Amino acid sequence: MKNILVTGGAGFIGSNFVIYMLEKYDSYRIINLDKLTYAGNLENLKAVENHKNYSFIEGDIADHQLVEEIFKNHDIDYVINFAAESHVDRSILEPEIFIKTNILGTTNLLNAAKKHWQEGDSFKSGKKFIQVSTDEVYGSLGETGYFMETTPLDPHSPYSASKAGADLVVKSYFDTYKMPVNITRCSNNYGPYQFPEKLIPLMIHNALNKKPLPVYGDGMNIRDWLYVEDHCSAIDMVMHNGRLGEVYNVGGHNERPNITIVKTIIGYLNKNVDSSITEDLIKYVEDRKGHDRRYGIDPQKIKDELGWYPKTNFETGIVKTIQWYLQNAEWMKNVTSGEYQNYYKKMYDHK
Ligand code: NAD
Ligand code: TYD
Repeated sequence: MKNILVTGGAGFIGSNFVIYMLEKYDSYRIINLDKLTYAGNLENLKAVENHKNYSFIEGDIADHQLVEEIFKNHDIDYVINFAAESHVDRSILEPEIFIKTNILGTTNLLNAAKKHWQEGDSFKSGKKFIQVSTDEVYGSLGETGYFMETTPLDPHSPYSASKAGADLVVKSYFDTYKMPVNITRCSNNYGPYQFPEKLIPLMIHNALNKKPLPVYGDGMNIRDWLYVEDHCSAIDMVMHNGRLGEVYNVGGHNERPNITIVKTIIGYLNKNVDSSITEDLIKYVEDRKGHDRRYGIDPQKIKDELGWYPKTNFETGIVKTIQWYLQNAEWMKNVTSGEYQNYYKKMYDHK
């Protein structure tokens, strides 16, 4: 039995990963450390909460004593660090917590892992720290070209700057101490359990409630979409076979302008749920500050080295996703009560 410390496992990608791993393997015990911020929700983990190989610890990755205790009490073999403040718009409103969680929190985890994994000048075998990062650290593309692992970091938002900062700290622990690490940089994920502050679930939620669909700027910013389960399989492969110290980009050539995504969602809901959901709901609003124009991943390295490829194309994935939100209206209702209302007012009501 090996022990995986998953951080941020109550969030969108983390919860999908915990479920994915427990369904696929019998040989891993998963300890989920999550602070349960507005974005963390134990309801996401209902399917596994009583699983014999799963346990949950509520707490902050930046809490030195707590993380030290976890490493002392469990023989941790892998750390998969999903925990982060993850939303660009929130980082523009309040950058400090992004620096604290994303950079200092990651450093705190690295220090605990280093302390418990180091043996003299080297590290115990079979240990690995995986930093789940983002393509946003590379900045913005023009109309052509793709992000490669060698593309220089050029983050523009406080969120992406904090992720780039964390990546550099992780890299430095490999360069300095030869600590066993990998960094994954993934494009925009979508799928079940994504908090409705991000484009796809926000548009589904608003359309179903006949609220305006706020499209930033001209709606022609491009994101490269990846179904969350394909991201989970990439992390699984990097965890098992990634070469130590390497960065792996994860993406599947699914670039779409934002307005196309919004119209796809409206089209599905109009046809299958309510014919009064139409493009009249679209409201072009003031652009996001520093809005990156285009993201696009070159996934050749992870394909060549690890044999990874995404199994879900966008047309299939978006239908599965919309259907999941339709079938989980109660989940949506729960996560949009309380703090969400204040955030939504602050973000959109003046636009
Ligand atoms: P999310 O916001 O849905 O979840 C983040 C989780 O981390 C939540 O459960 C939250 O409670 C927890 N958390 C926050 N601060 C914490 C702290 N200090 N200590 C412990 N737990 C804390 O985010 P997500 O979309 O699931 O993203 C997960 C990771 O993947 C992040 O590191 C993000 O940067 C990265 N990523 C996300 C995307 C995407 O499209 N969502 C794309 C590329 C990379
Ligand atoms: P988002 O889901 O916040 O992801 P990220 O900024 O990390 O890529 O946004 C995806 C794209 O959608 C981005 O170009 C901003 C745009 N967007 C809107 O036009 N309206 C919205 O209400 C939101 C949340 C995002």
